[in-house]
Amino acid sequence: MIHKCLFPVAGYGTRFLPATKSSPKEMLPIVNKPLIEYGVEEAVAAGLTRIGFVTGRGKRAIEDHFDKNYELEDQIRGTGKEDLISGTRALIDQCEFSYTRQKEMMGLGHAILTGETLIGDEPFAVVLADDLCIAEGDGVLTQMVKLFKQFRCSIVAVEEVPDADIHRYGVVAGEPLKDGVYRITEMIEKPSREEAPSNLGIIGRYILTPDIFEVLRNTSPGKNGELQITDALRQQALDGCVLAYRFSGRRFDCGSIDGFVDATNFCYQRFYKNGQ
Ligand code: G1P
Repeated sequence: MIHKCLFPVAGYGTRFLPATKSSPKEMLPIVNKPLIEYGVEEAVAAGLTRIGFVTGRGKRAIEDHFDKNYELEDQIRGTGKEDLISGTRALIDQCEFSYTRQKEMMGLGHAILTGETLIGDEPFAVVLADDLCIAEGDGVLTQMVKLFKQFRCSIVAVEEVPDADIHRYGVVAGEPLKDGVYRITEMIEKPSREEAPSNLGIIGRYILTPDIFEVLRNTSPGKNGELQITDALRQQALDGCVLAYRFSGRRFDCGSIDGFVDATNFCYQRFYKNGQ
């Protein structure tokens, strides 16, 4: 089954400068927890405890975050603050973390291909930590893992996006298979409004079968001259089957200031103010 989850975290986060000048964007907190930790929690809840990071320059804070800090734990012992890091400690205890570096930023497809060394020959999930997903019941990755057990092919999570934002997403078209599940017939990375085959945009949750690596190796650079996962998945869809899944839950685009502020307000009300 699926045990591994890949987190491409090499990006610069230029939209959040100056905050991201020397700190990874994935470490920006939504209230008091870094974005990346929400993503790792979602993976672990789906049973994916082998966590791989495709990292880059200036991202060491992520490695430190997912490691024990005996000095700090010693300092706060008996002060009533232990609970503040007990969730993080639990993740560290449950997971195995591994890291590889993306030397050049050549697109999401390139980042995922760089992660091959951490994944090997098994199906895996990809989480883009910028997209924070909060669901009522099962997390989005848990929903997707369940779907994978049924269909055994690559799956992308999608949601309806407004026309004005369509150029920021990979966009899919497909034939409905069952409620909220489509078999993809077309997908285009960041199309213009006119080119877009539908209003279903891909969000940062994927389950990929390992043949994707070979497809990526044979995919030419696409949008912005970068190796795009959308283009490789399109090929996989034409050769076999790729599903689009309309997940249940809310997704916040924390790669944008507006989405980040919305997520902060939402999580403050939901998890912090109510003391959950
Ligand atoms: C990436 C993908 C795009 C997807 C998006 C979701 O784009 O290339 O297909 O819709 O993530 O967040 P990025 O936002 O990294 O430019």
